[in-house]
Amino acid sequence: MSEHLHPFAPTALTRADKERRLQQPGKVIWLYGLSGAGKSTLAVALERQLAAENYITQLLDGDTLRLGLNRDLGFGDASRSENIRRVSEVARLFAHAGIVTICSFITPLRAHRTLAREIITPADLIEVHVAASYAVCARRDPKGLYAKAAAGNLPGFTGRDSAFEPPADGEASLIIGTETDSPEESLRQLHPFVSAQLKRP
Ligand code: ADX
Repeated sequence: MSEHLHPFAPTALTRADKERRLQQPGKVIWLYGLSGAGKSTLAVALERQLAAENYITQLLDGDTLRLGLNRDLGFGDASRSENIRRVSEVARLFAHAGIVTICSFITPLRAHRTLAREIITPADLIEVHVAASYAVCARRDPKGLYAKAAAGNLPGFTGRDSAFEPPADGEASLIIGTETDSPEESLRQLHPFVSAQLKRP
């Protein structure tokens, strides 16, 4: 089928032109980890801080995108791969438009993270594992999902009925443990790490 496609290279403004206009590099910051680990909280906190520094950002979040673009997807292996593939393609488009894109998805398997890395490319990607144990996330249970899963009402729940694979040695760009640190403390770890990779062009 692809031989009948005619992709065009946009020439009006190149990525570099857009990055110069915006005075920022396109970049994808990908937060992954268990539900309730603090991904969305950190994503919003990072976005707020970057906005205060005049960066233009876009947040992509699992729950939100599953209401629209990914509304046809569930939580089986194939659906999660397709979820990550679509979101990675979207994040890539934003990065190529010069936008600092903050992604918040469980991204449970190494294969999912590999897929995202292949689509976005390592040069454009900062991979952050937001780490908290199942027990701690279950105690927080901000959305009541852990209780639902324990009652048998949420099949395929990550960390219980389906795997969450922690990053292999050296896989993550950064690991932020959120079990005991406050969100403010976690942001103090995340923000300088990200900031160092957002040099103005
Ligand atoms: S991913 O595994 O495909 O990366 P994603 O981040 O998009 O997941 O969506 C996770 C969100 O979906 C969770 O934060 C939770 O609110 C909701 N959810 C609903 N059912 C499940 C489930 N079975 N496992 C995990 N999360 C679920």
